[in-house]
Amino acid sequence: MLKRRDILVLFFILLPWTLLITFWHQHAGYPLIPVPKDNRTGASKAHQRGFSLHESCVTMNKRITKATQMKYVHQRPPPWSDTLPTLHVITPTYGRPVQKAELTRLTNTLLHVPNLHWLVVEDSVQRTALVSRLLENTGLNYTHLNVETPENLKTQKKPRNVRFPRGTMQRNLALRWLREHINPNSSHKGVVYFADDDNTYNLELFEEMRWTRKVSVWPVAFIGGLRYESPKINSQGKVFGWKTVFDPRRPFAIDMAGFAVNLQLILSKPQACFKLKGVKGGYQESSLLQGLVTLSDLEPKAANCTKILVWHTRTERPLLVNEGKKGFTSGSMEV
Ligand SMILES: *[C@@H]1O[C@H](CO)[C@@H](O)[C@H](O)[C@H]1NC(C)=O
Ligand SMILES: *[C@@H]1O[C@H](CO)[C@@H](O)[C@H](O)[C@H]1NC(C)=O
Ligand SMILES: *[C@@H]1O[C@H](CO)[C@@H](O)[C@H](O)[C@H]1NC(C)=O
Ligand SMILES: *[C@@H]1O[C@H](CO)[C@@H](O)[C@H](O)[C@H]1NC(C)=O
Repeated sequence: MLKRRDILVLFFILLPWTLLITFWHQHAGYPLIPVPKDNRTGASKAHQRGFSLHESCVTMNKRITKATQMKYVHQRPPPWSDTLPTLHVITPTYGRPVQKAELTRLTNTLLHVPNLHWLVVEDSVQRTALVSRLLENTGLNYTHLNVETPENLKTQKKPRNVRFPRGTMQRNLALRWLREHINPNSSHKGVVYFADDDNTYNLELFEEMRWTRKVSVWPVAFIGGLRYESPKINSQGKVFGWKTVFDPRRPFAIDMAGFAVNLQLILSKPQACFKLKGVKGGYQESSLLQGLVTLSDLEPKAANCTKILVWHTRTERPLLVNEGKKGFTSGSMEV
């Protein structure tokens, strides 16, 4: 009987040999075992045979991999169901070095979720080629919108504590799109969720929110200077406050990624939106939710808010100090 340790030892003995042999195969003509000069031709013929065999394997594998990939892409997203409520996922986005990487990662998550409609709203004068192409290639059910945040709103001197959070106009535009394109009298069941492109989402989250009656809530990790923030849940399973350090007296001390709203509720309260001006930092979410529900309406999800299903991860800003130096330019390559 081989013990685990023996297998490990064997593995580490064999590993260098495997690497060497691979190297040798790829550099035919430099045989690993010395052969007499007069026998080189025969040996190198053997190598060639081995090499061509190796090559045909690679080609075959490539073909198989390609076929698998295509099937993989075409089978996603999962087929549309007439019985499941639609998840309308709203993602504001803006141009920056990591934009395509972030949207690619979010796409890869959303492709696993049935009945998902992705509303992507660019903060730009027009819809960009980068985002258009990315969305076309996803196979997702999406709506591509844009609205540029006016320069005066981005840069104006604001009173202390008042800020203009990114994405506000973009989220409001998506809400308007839903209100204009979905007839409130139709039996269309749905849920609205604000999913920024810099978070990490567990797939369970989407099923937790799918049957939201009014507004469902759950904890969010890496936010407010904490490992996580969460609604406080009492023994009756109702929300009675907020586990946050920063201003827990806010009407809804919850991050954008921590709640979802029933679509009918959005449609039936057309005045509810994110307020543009005079909203103190951290009050953006409250400005929408106050127009929709009261604390007692909230439905705790994620096992009564005991599980983390979304993380405010954020991607590190890449260091680009060498761009433009020694002939390296950011020019035409889409990144
Ligand atoms: C040379 O190669 C042939 C066939 O590969 C083999 O039969 C023969 O023994 C080799 N001769 C020497 C001297 O190694
Ligand atoms: C896109 O969504 C609509 C409903 O909004 C649905 O009827 C349609 O089947 C979906 N299309 C795909 C390709 O999933
Ligand atoms: C919805 O139904 C109400 C009452 O039946 C009607 O007044 C209203 O125009 C309808 N709305 C739409 C968008 O069809
Ligand atoms: C949440 O808490 C309520 C009240 O304690 C309980 O009835 C319910 O089963 C809990 N739900 C879950 C999913 O743990």
